[in-house]
This record gives sequence, C-alpha cells and structure tokens, in this order.
Amino acid sequence: MQEFFPLTVTDIAHDTRDAVVLSLAPRAEDMERFRFRPGQYLTFRRSFDGAELRRSYSICAAPGEGLRVGIKRVSGGAFSGWAKSDLAVGDTIEAMPPQGRFGPGDTAPGVQARHYIGFAAGSGITPVLSIARTILGGDPEARFTLVYGNRAVASVMFRAELGELKDRYLSRFSVLHLFSGPGAEEGLFSGRIDAGKCAALFGGWLQPAEAEMAFICGPEAMMKEVAGALEGAGLPRERIRFELFGADQPGRAKLRAEAAAARASGDMVRATVIIDGAATEFQMPRRGQSVLEAAREHDIDAPFSCKAGVCSTCIGRVHKGEVEMLQNYALEDYEVARGLVLTCQCIPLSDEIVIEYEGH
Ligand code: FES
Repeated sequence: MQEFFPLTVTDIAHDTRDAVVLSLAPRAEDMERFRFRPGQYLTFRRSFDGAELRRSYSICAAPGEGLRVGIKRVSGGAFSGWAKSDLAVGDTIEAMPPQGRFGPGDTAPGVQARHYIGFAAGSGITPVLSIARTILGGDPEARFTLVYGNRAVASVMFRAELGELKDRYLSRFSVLHLFSGPGAEEGLFSGRIDAGKCAALFGGWLQPAEAEMAFICGPEAMMKEVAGALEGAGLPRERIRFELFGADQPGRAKLRAEAAAARASGDMVRATVIIDGAATEFQMPRRGQSVLEAAREHDIDAPFSCKAGVCSTCIGRVHKGEVEMLQNYALEDYEVARGLVLTCQCIPLSDEIVIEYEGH
C-alpha cells in the first residue's frame, strides 16, 4: 500500500540562496501514477545514518507540465540540506505518488469571471503557484490575486516564474509582495501577513466576499489569522482552502510517558486495523499512542508522511468504536462527521476500535 517509486532528477535549479527546484521524471511505467492535480505534493524517503526520513514537498508545476517540486533548506534539515547541496542531475530519488487535496478541485470555466485569492508565506508559495498557473491557464476569464510574504526580496522563491506569469496574464494575475525583514519600508506592503494586514488590504485591494475561493499556505498562525479574516470579510468557510507543512507535534515526550504508564497498568484497548482488505488485531495503550504508531509497531504498513495531522496521507475510516484526533488540519468537518480520521492523530476513546485505511 505504502509504495515508493524511483524518480530521476533531470534538472536542479537554484532558485534562491536556500531553495532548489527539482525537475523529476518517473519511469515510463509510472507516468500514470505521477499524474497530479494542482496543489498536490510528493512524499520522499531517504535513509540518513540508518534512519529513514520522509519529507513532503509541494509540486510547483501545473498539470500537463513536467513534475517539479520546490525545496527550501531549513536550518539543520537533513533532507532539505541534502537536496540543496548533494543531490545531482541523474540521481534517483524515491517518492510516493502525488497526494493532497489543497487545490481547487474540478472547476469548469465560469459564466462570470471568477476571482481567486492566494496567501503564501515563504516556501508556502510552491503549491499556490501550481494552483495559480492551473487556474489562469484553464479558465480564460479567471483572475488570481496573490499576497506573498517574505523577509526580503532575496528570499522570494520563484521570482522569475511569478514575473513570467504576470507578463503572460497581465490583466488577470497580480502579486502583492509583503516584506517583513529589517530594512523593509513601513507601509501597506511591509510586515507579516496577519489579521491586521488583511484588514488593511480588504476593501481596497481585495474583496473576499466576491472571491470564488481562497488558498492559504504558510505557518499555522498566519493560516488561522488569514482564514479568520477572510471569513469575517464574508468569504464562506467552505471556500477557504489551506495547507501547512511542518506543523509542530507538541508534547511527544508527554505522550510517550502516557503510553508507557497505560501499558504498565494494563490499560489497553483492542484495535483492529484493516488495510487492503486484510485485518490485523492488536492491543494498544488507551493513552499516549496514535493508531498509526500502534499499527506500525505491529508491522502493519500503514501509510503516513507528516505525522502532524496536516498531509492527510494516513486517512482511515472508523468502523467501530470511538477515537479522538489531537490535531486536524486536513479533514473538513463533514468528512469527520462521516467517520474519516487522521490515524496519526487518533487516540482511542472506547475499549474496542476498528479502523480501515482508505485507498489513495
Ligand atoms: Fe500526515 Fe497523518 S501522516 S496527516
């Protein structure tokens, strides 16, 4: 179920001092598997000092173009550092087929001109760029306004591509750059993207209530503030999509201690996990361990990527029993109401649970 396939690195473009854009080619027999929708991401895996790391990076290309992902080096990041410094053209890299549901879905060209809004901070631009390219290329009437926050001009990813997009769709694509680093001039276009900045932009530059959809990608705090501001300005919740990578996983040590205490006192629940039709039953602690962790501890090849409630790779459906999710950045309320859960965030609430992994 959790399958990885080799991709050949065909080009490496050094976009900013810290970011690279990798062009990747699947094998001929995997072409269909690596077809993608705008806003999706790839999960890569690689071993570093014997430990397997998995990292997800968004696709920046639009469907129909070659597969490209943007990777920004994070300080101390083993994978991003390796990709930036050691990876070479001709190397192969292992990836799962594209995943994620951040994009606009199937939108046919509208009768009325549609206006879309994107908010991106730093490397959050990657999936938003893919979405903007797809919308502008697919609907000749659509407009897209991007608000893009960075510390400084030098850290703006895809500067050249954004410029090209602007030239190609002169009257339909606009970018508002905000700079938050020292030296940025005071004013509307300085500072971080937050609720106050949204309030300043709404009305004059942006009319959220009239927007078809808004896409937000960046750190959690920014995402929440922008989503709240958009809703407050009249854009319904179901027309706001957000994506966040690298969320914190708070309290891991505390959770481990809770799991150990539950095991020591025999406070266990019976869990059954179904994957590809095969059911496996095992005991797991009532507290402190997620269903995903418990399943993997029992050698079940359950799918995962971020383990932070963000990517939705680990989606399952609860058939029996009750669970609670610690964090959920991926599922909509109606999906939760239908029994879908992120197994990396699920803690059992009942004595018995049965969860089936959804196919991807
Ligand atoms: Fe990413 Fe669970 S592994 S949401």
